[in-house]
Amino acid sequence: MSDQHSYHHQQLTIGMFGFGVVGEGLYQVLQKTPSLKAHIKTVCIKNPDKKRNAPAALFTTDKDKILQDPEINVVVEVIDDADAAFDIASTAMRNGKHVVSASKKMIAENLPALLDLQAKTGKSMLYESAACASIPVIRNLEEYYDNDLLHSMQAIVNGSTNYILTRMFEDKLDYRDALLQAQQLGFAESNPALDVEGYDALNKWIFLLTHAYGIVSSPAEHLFTGIQNIQSFDAIVAAEKGWSIKLVAQAQKLSDGKVAAFVLPQLVKPDNHLSFVRHENNGVVIESGFADKQFFYGKGAGSFPTASAVLSDISALRYDYAYEYKKLYHHQPAKLADNYYLRVYCSFNLMTDVQRDDFEWIEEWHAREERKYLVGVIHAGKLAGSTWWKENQVSLILLPDPLMESIDLVKLKRKSLELAGIQLHHGYGMGS
Ligand SMILES: NC(=O)c1ccc[n+]([C@@H]2O[C@H](COP(=O)([O-])OP(=O)(O)OC[C@H]3O[C@@H](n4cnc5c(N)ncnc54)[C@H](OP(=O)(O)O)[C@@H]3O)[C@@H](O)[C@H]2O)c1
Repeated sequence: MSDQHSYHHQQLTIGMFGFGVVGEGLYQVLQKTPSLKAHIKTVCIKNPDKKRNAPAALFTTDKDKILQDPEINVVVEVIDDADAAFDIASTAMRNGKHVVSASKKMIAENLPALLDLQAKTGKSMLYESAACASIPVIRNLEEYYDNDLLHSMQAIVNGSTNYILTRMFEDKLDYRDALLQAQQLGFAESNPALDVEGYDALNKWIFLLTHAYGIVSSPAEHLFTGIQNIQSFDAIVAAEKGWSIKLVAQAQKLSDGKVAAFVLPQLVKPDNHLSFVRHENNGVVIESGFADKQFFYGKGAGSFPTASAVLSDISALRYDYAYEYKKLYHHQPAKLADNYYLRVYCSFNLMTDVQRDDFEWIEEWHAREERKYLVGVIHAGKLAGSTWWKENQVSLILLPDPLMESIDLVKLKRKSLELAGIQLHHGYGMGS
């Protein structure tokens, strides 16, 4: 047997942190895949008194039983504490161990340090399960799509908010009941605010932007919100148009090469692939030069779907796979754009809750008994620099195809029509 051949069959001895939804799922999945030649030697958990569906001898509460064990060459980190997870991942790499992690919060908050650690230690850190759980989106962005050709990405990356929106709008479930069900089914984060206020989706978007465009950014640099202010009124307005509402993470390359990126609720037309994504599923639409649109779809949360991506990372370690971060290190990394406009729908209770001066123009006003709404165009920087649109139950939702690079031409057209005495009833709004 050649060295290379025997290398491919090296034994992976795993130390795992966490035995919750994902950890226990992985334990069961590994038992069903003996051909992988990977076995869990030790599992570190927090609470020694909890009953576990695995032999007691496997468990410890002492992290050094894993981190200092020379026989363990892979650390799988699937805990729900981002600070502890960073400590575990960085110590493991320093101690010569590869790391597989599912913790998007930890990765998003520590990306520069984790990039540095991977470069310095030469150890691999894989985290396919941290974004879109079962969908192999990171490895595809990393290996398949060239930076220059990747025009845009639009994605539903948070299974629990998508589950809540689906149950609320299709089954008319009350928001709280829908959230409770998401938690019971193991889709929601231990802290639900991470999901519903958009933090979880943003965290995933942070490192997907690194693999797609070489952008290394922090959560504070991005325009985002979640579904916390969406009202059943909005669902009625959307339904009148035959549209749905989704929490969409997106990135689009502008003509100057910069990338506009944000995570916001959006009105989605039925011809958009994302309208097909219901319940806890995730979906990613990638638009690239010559290939047009491609659509990735699959389970974005849950025990076995998430464990299957962790398993795939473990399996990739057998052939020494590591992310190269090609777009960051081997291409000219893209920069985040801050000069673009968005077409938005905005519903509210009181006129005073909305900063109308922030809009470039407002093209539709509607006042109904229960609530009012408008459709208008606003500079992204005006949204990033203010909070009125997240407060007082104001619900701001992007229109389909919301991004405008420049508004000069539209402004000119509006002006000349006005001069000609023609009243504008439509343009880029809901009516078009
Ligand atoms: N659930 C999903 O669908 C999903 C999908 C993708 C990614 N993820 C990510 O995967 C990770 C785990 O999620 P989960 O849903 O499996 O969480 P979970 O069910 O709440 O389980 C968390 C586990 O972490 C353990 N733990 C917490 N702090 C620890 C520490 N300092 N040292 C050792 N163990 C510790 C807990 O120990 P005890 O058992 O003793 O309490 C528990 O076993 C999170 O980062 C999450 O964001 C989850």
